[in-house]
Amino acid sequence: MRVLSGIQPTGRFHWGNYFGAIQQYIALQNNEQSFYFIADLHALTSVRDRKQLEDNVWDAAVDLLALGLNPDQAALFRQSDVPEVTELMWLLMTVTQFSLLEKCHSYKDKVAKGIAADAGLFTYPVLMAADILLYDSDIVPVGADQIQHLEVTRDIAQRFNSIFGGEFLHLPNARVLEEGAKVPGTDGEKMSKSYGNTLEIFEAEKPLRKKIMSIKTDSTPMEAPKNPDTCSIYTLFKLFSTLEQQAALADRYRAGGMGYGEAKQALFEAAMSYFADARAKRAELVANPAYVEEVLQAGAKKARAKGQQVLQRVQEACGLKGRRA
Ligand code: ADP
Ligand code: TRP
Repeated sequence: MRVLSGIQPTGRFHWGNYFGAIQQYIALQNNEQSFYFIADLHALTSVRDRKQLEDNVWDAAVDLLALGLNPDQAALFRQSDVPEVTELMWLLMTVTQFSLLEKCHSYKDKVAKGIAADAGLFTYPVLMAADILLYDSDIVPVGADQIQHLEVTRDIAQRFNSIFGGEFLHLPNARVLEEGAKVPGTDGEKMSKSYGNTLEIFEAEKPLRKKIMSIKTDSTPMEAPKNPDTCSIYTLFKLFSTLEQQAALADRYRAGGMGYGEAKQALFEAAMSYFADARAKRAELVANPAYVEEVLQAGAKKARAKGQQVLQRVQEACGLKGRRA
């Protein structure tokens, strides 16, 4: 089994990224081969500031390692350190229907919001297909919003195979973790950088507490019984707690006499304790940048070795590199 996933360095990671994606990477890293990369080329479709992108990529690497990504098990690398991926992207583009990309939410949603689309945004799913197909990936752990991109990837691979007549590209499968499928943000909507409603994994204690205290609730008075199942504080608390802890907090909601402030405090404490080890590990990594860079270089080397094999197979399939002498 070959597992692969990528994450965009477009800002600091939040709880939605962790429970929707990062946790799955880490759980799957013990597979025979696993590749995890920081999608810096994809991030260029939205981050247009050199320093910002460099910092984001670096923070992403440090965060992933702090959260338990083990470089002895998994190759961790920068997408742009494997240039083969952009060549494969071109080969895939030549078999990708325009109409397939027009259907993609990633593009449609931005256009609907009035964002002028460039070719990078429009062809974003083809680069993602190249990311996946370059390594003969079997399983791609992602959040639910990426399922469509996996379907596009399979579509492109099938079209390439059928045009050139062979199993040149290996069809991948998405792996979606249902439970964390939609982590709510401080306003109750899906947590997302673009909505400014995030709770960041490595946010300093004080601002984190402040943000948790700002989570939107209904106006049920303190004495009245409350419904935990419609409350985003409780939904978030469940991510960090045992079944017993969840049952205990749910009982307190239903009994009445507990204000939302208390539930928020419980959430804050549960989150701090859940990420305590990762915070300590992060501090160590920040003090040792040479080690982090070494991990990224070793990861890229491993990824390129596999990527070069697949690219060659694909180039030959479509008649490139057909030297006569
Ligand atoms: P954002 O929406 O904050 O820009 P990304 O689109 O970069 O986040 O998401 C990176 C990964 O994290 C994706 O696999 C995505 O599905 C997952 N993810 C993001 N937000 C959430 C959320 N609120 N709940 C579950 N998973 C999420
Ligand atoms: N598009 C993905 C996201 O926004 C990131 C990504 C890029 C990715 N390439 C990938 C994820 C390949 C999985 C596999 O979350």
